[in-house]
Amino acid sequence: MLDLPTANNQLRTTQLVQVRTESPTVKTFMFTDRLCSKAKPGQFLMLWIPGIDEIPLSIMDTSNGVISVTVKAVGDATRHLHNLAPGATVGVRGPFGNSFTESRGRVLLVGGGTGTAPLLFLAKQLASKTDRLSFVEGAKTASELLFVKEVGGICQEKNIITTTEDGTAGLQCLVTQPLASLLDKEKFDMIYVCGPEIMVKRIFELTEARKLPIEASLERLMRCGIGLCGSCVIGKYRVCRDGPVFNAAQLREMKDELGISKIGFDGSRIPF
Ligand SMILES: Cc1cc2nc3c(=O)[nH]c(=O)nc-3n(C[C@H](O)[C@H](O)[C@H](O)COP(=O)(O)OP(=O)(O)OC[C@H]3O[C@@H](n4cnc5c(N)ncnc54)[C@H](O)[C@@H]3O)c2cc1C
Ligand code: FES
Repeated sequence: MLDLPTANNQLRTTQLVQVRTESPTVKTFMFTDRLCSKAKPGQFLMLWIPGIDEIPLSIMDTSNGVISVTVKAVGDATRHLHNLAPGATVGVRGPFGNSFTESRGRVLLVGGGTGTAPLLFLAKQLASKTDRLSFVEGAKTASELLFVKEVGGICQEKNIITTTEDGTAGLQCLVTQPLASLLDKEKFDMIYVCGPEIMVKRIFELTEARKLPIEASLERLMRCGIGLCGSCVIGKYRVCRDGPVFNAAQLREMKDELGISKIGFDGSRIPF
């Protein structure tokens, strides 16, 4: 029988208390919500933008009971959200999904784009518990590298690698390029990944070839967020209920779809 979330699934309205610009295309939105303030890194919420749409977003922070989500403007709902100011009303359901496990030892976090947001939440929680925390972050261009200062405040400089596709900051390459040699050179007890699915797929190939543990957060199109509609299915899994965080054994099971195709809002299969 389907185990449906109850209180978490009730829509609550709240007001934005702060909006912070992170880059030309990314803003962080802050609001209070009692249930989401208990969220763990990796979990997501459904944010309703009144009159427009409801969208899934990773929870980036819950410090002092204030929930933060970091959002890139890509379409209708996210552009409308970007136009909202503090005081605007939004709706919240969640938190939903599983979370990253808390690994000790030597930990590597790899983020691409807004995928860096939930990893920053995780990094803050792991900072005092791990032997070594390394961070690899990639973006198209320097202005899209998110949370550089915050990551610098948590990880030692020698354990941070940044890449940009146009060479405006860090190494000029895809994030996967320095990773291969890093994984050959240093030992890691866990590799956490969040970013575009193609990036997750390439990193999974690198960790598989070296038999390394990995947990990756996936983004699929979502409508209900609670396992009912099937729009987020990958292989035998529903990303909203079984994920969004998947381990190596689960990623192996879905490798014929991972980074290859997804289900669109009209139910058709779309190649990446
Ligand atoms: C679990 C989860 C966590 C997410 N966390 C974040 C986050 O922290 N920050 C953030 O900026 N975005 C996040 N996303 C993606 C975000 O939900 C989409 O960008 C948003 O729904 C787009 O809505 P829109 O109406 O603006 O764009 P639309 O007009 O619906 O689409 C514009 C473009 O974005 C793509 N898109 C739409 N929905 C998704 C989706 N769910 N995943 C990937 N691409 C999508 C479409 O294919 C299209 O190319 C997350 C998605 C999931 C599933
Ligand atoms: S979003 Fe409906 S089943 Fe996952």
